[in-house]
Amino acid sequence: MEITLAPREQIRGRVKMPGDKSISHRALILSALAEGTVEITGLLAAEDTRATRLCLQQLGVEFQEAGTKLLVRGRGLRGLQEPDDFLQAENSGTTARLFLGLLAGQPFFSVLTGDRSLRMRPMARVCKPLRQMGARIEGRQGGTLLPLAVRGGNLLPIRYRLPVASAQVKSALLLAGLYTCGRVELFEPGPSRDHTERMLSYLGGRLEKGAPGEIVLAAPCSLAAKKLKIPGDLSSAAFFLVAAALAPQGELLLEAVGVNPTRTGIIDVLQEMGAAVRVLNRKEVCGEPVADLWVQGGRPLTGVAINAPLIPRLVDEIPVLAVAALFAAGETVISGAGELRLKESDRLHALATELQKMGAAIKELPDGLVIQGGQKINGAVCSSHGDHRIAMALAVAALFARGETVVRGIETVDISFPGFFTLLNSLTA
Ligand code: S3P
Repeated sequence: MEITLAPREQIRGRVKMPGDKSISHRALILSALAEGTVEITGLLAAEDTRATRLCLQQLGVEFQEAGTKLLVRGRGLRGLQEPDDFLQAENSGTTARLFLGLLAGQPFFSVLTGDRSLRMRPMARVCKPLRQMGARIEGRQGGTLLPLAVRGGNLLPIRYRLPVASAQVKSALLLAGLYTCGRVELFEPGPSRDHTERMLSYLGGRLEKGAPGEIVLAAPCSLAAKKLKIPGDLSSAAFFLVAAALAPQGELLLEAVGVNPTRTGIIDVLQEMGAAVRVLNRKEVCGEPVADLWVQGGRPLTGVAINAPLIPRLVDEIPVLAVAALFAAGETVISGAGELRLKESDRLHALATELQKMGAAIKELPDGLVIQGGQKINGAVCSSHGDHRIAMALAVAALFARGETVVRGIETVDISFPGFFTLLNSLTA
């Protein structure tokens, strides 16, 4: 599927973003392990979270839609059943990695696979520590790529230093940690998103605060069936924040968006570039900070340096930040972002290739991008590379190009943001 986009001057309105994708995956998985029925509000209904839900169904978890809510019949930590077929994580790295941790804890056999893109993404970072805990995980390429067969159960405690700041790896080990007879002590090289820790604590998990960068989970525990309310996804809001900041007549209010400090790098960087972005009405909902975001366009932006320590706080926002940088005076250098080559697509390559087609001065580095901003870009025929965030970033670029842009492969936005193009169209009309 493709879309043709014309340049726009304005983007205005007051909107809610779809539910946070990371928090939605965790809400589904932890509810399935709770002692009773959990009511979830604001869950993201998209392809990635659908994959998590279907995998849980194969483990015997029942779901019931109740208007805008989803009821999850928790089975307790020990209530999951052996699946009678492959578990299909589709395009979702979070489903795959969190499930490897969950399955490692189960006293049964399971096989997990994914789509073409996911079957190429590295799983060794999760399998290695899980094997250290005693899980048996087999697969091709030395057991590092999906499909992976897991025979879990009888896990040992672990003390482990993560080689990369990855919330997916950390979360896999915490889920496995629910099934050990002792403690899981993790050390992060940098702060990655902490939604698993927050939700586990909220549901009664025994998380202890260690030294900075240290996460400790003491088992055993049980998880309470408490209501969960999911905030809007800041990673989805990012496309609208950038579009409104770039539009001569841009003004948006994005309501009830998650502003967990491990995710707000996009807000800090846009403000540093000179954009008018404000965080209003802060509150806490189910252990997560939530706020309304206001953004106004028409301000001149300047290029910035985005380097390694900041990357985990905006890892999914690099595609749309690269677009913002095209319209900022001077140079923007993104470095220490090699992890982007391992996402749904090689995002550094995809961005450089597609934005060059629009005439942008953007150069690929081994671990980043160099963007010369402040030059006009032209409409072109571009590809999403099968990656939802590349498709949406290109759509934002198209709004400020000369002439029409065609974005091919837009069906991929359903991974995280069904209705993205309808919303973009209505706010820019
Ligand atoms: C996610 C963690 C990040 C992020 C991904 C979602 C999560 O991946 O890029 O989109 O929900 O835990 P890594 O853990 O690989 O950094």
